[in-house]
Amino acid sequence: MNRRSPTILCVDDEQTIQSLLEFMLVPAGFKVVIACNGRQALEVLAGQPVDLVLSDVVMPEMDGFELCTTIKAKERLRNIPVVMLTGAKDKRDRIRGIEAGAEDFITKPFDRDEVLARIRMLLRVKELDDKLNYAYRHIARLTSYGEQMFNGFDPSTFVFMEKIDMMVDQIMRKLSSLDDSPEVVVVGVKEDDICRWYRYDMRAERVSRSDMLMNLHQKVAFTRSAFPEMSFYNEYDESSNVSDFVAELEKYLMPISNMVRYASDSFCIIAVNYERNVTSHYAEVLNHVVMQSLFLKSLAAQIKDTQSAFDYMVFALARASEANDEDTGAHVMRVGDFCAELAIRMDLDDGFVNMLRIQAALHDVGKIHVPSSILKKPGELSSEEWKLIQQHTIYGPMIIGGHSRMQMAASIAVSHHEHWDGSGYPYGLRGEQIPLEARIVCIADQYDALRNARAYKKAYDHATAVDIITRGDGRTLPWHFDPRVLKAFVEVADRLDEIYRVSVAAEQTF
Ligand SMILES: [Fe+2]
Ligand SMILES: [Fe+2]
Repeated sequence: MNRRSPTILCVDDEQTIQSLLEFMLVPAGFKVVIACNGRQALEVLAGQPVDLVLSDVVMPEMDGFELCTTIKAKERLRNIPVVMLTGAKDKRDRIRGIEAGAEDFITKPFDRDEVLARIRMLLRVKELDDKLNYAYRHIARLTSYGEQMFNGFDPSTFVFMEKIDMMVDQIMRKLSSLDDSPEVVVVGVKEDDICRWYRYDMRAERVSRSDMLMNLHQKVAFTRSAFPEMSFYNEYDESSNVSDFVAELEKYLMPISNMVRYASDSFCIIAVNYERNVTSHYAEVLNHVVMQSLFLKSLAAQIKDTQSAFDYMVFALARASEANDEDTGAHVMRVGDFCAELAIRMDLDDGFVNMLRIQAALHDVGKIHVPSSILKKPGELSSEEWKLIQQHTIYGPMIIGGHSRMQMAASIAVSHHEHWDGSGYPYGLRGEQIPLEARIVCIADQYDALRNARAYKKAYDHATAVDIITRGDGRTLPWHFDPRVLKAFVEVADRLDEIYRVSVAAEQTF
């Protein structure tokens, strides 16, 4: 069902012709708008959608040729068919009309049936042309939209439904007054055999999504293979093989005059009630949405999976390095969590925080090369032994290597024993010569070391550990630490205690 009657703009300065055209066209189901000359016709075209122009040749102010030339020169109007009304013997007028871009000619006096047949034929061509343009414009817009999405793509913050919302918004929003958009869009997402349905409506120029309780048969709504399938429905089209599906859908939505559905085995998008009958061009637009959305979803899942495998391997290596030492694997995990708390308090960006949480775990990986007998030796170390232990900061970056994604871990491994006042090792760096990530690890590592019992010391409680870091005990001194990191440490100290307690309790459980 076409809800909008085609609008014919009749341009003639003679009132009898105007009335005659109206008399022929209105009963045939057309909406007629009258203009007395070319200039008036252009005003009408600027203000409302018109499907076809019927124009006289000779008129005051602006004649039919100039009107036709102007219409064909404007991008927005060019696909409106122009039919010129000429006299039977005006061969020259016809040639000028062809040159001006007119699609057809009707000879005066008019034959009603001929006029209607020609108009209907031209409207059919225009409709196909409009639909092709609709698909082209939407696909072009969705492509550039997709490009933006790819450029800003961050798998860690990717939310599938947010992307679907944006895509549906692009489909429902009209690009121009001539455009056709669906009244309602329904999206189905199937995960683990559970299907969720969402309904999108255009309300006050905004597309809004609401949950929808719908019990559509999944076999009908989705496909059995991942390869998407499309179907159409136009009311009065008796050959449609999806009438049953539409009848089912009507129970949940509204009377449906047309529908396009594009579905894969896990995603389904249904657009209903376009103003005109739907064709494959409309389905192409939906296909684009389905493809882009599913691709991004699968890409996000794969990247997250790879990232978690990568993190897992980093922790595995970190735990392996602790096997030689008194610390358990939980120490390296805690240091990562402490560092993240400190970095968040220091307002560092999310990417830095996430990377620090994982890569801080490798700070002591160089200890793999230090004999266990020295690492676990109770009592005083000889200066030779102490030098060997210090070497773990040199071995660390050698083990980690030069991969660009591991740069932070390498910088932490070499610099986490440097002190803000220059008294640390291996290079005696001071102040901001020490990378920020290493300054953060330095304090987190110290706090955890103080909380744990070592061969040469007992475990301290939280208050004592904080006291030693902030006031010093002769061995640890507050000026070893970056004052900014130290300030953040004092502010989040209670939170670090909480993380420590949870971690120790979990260790005891296993
Ligand atoms: Fe260390
Ligand atoms: Fe450590």
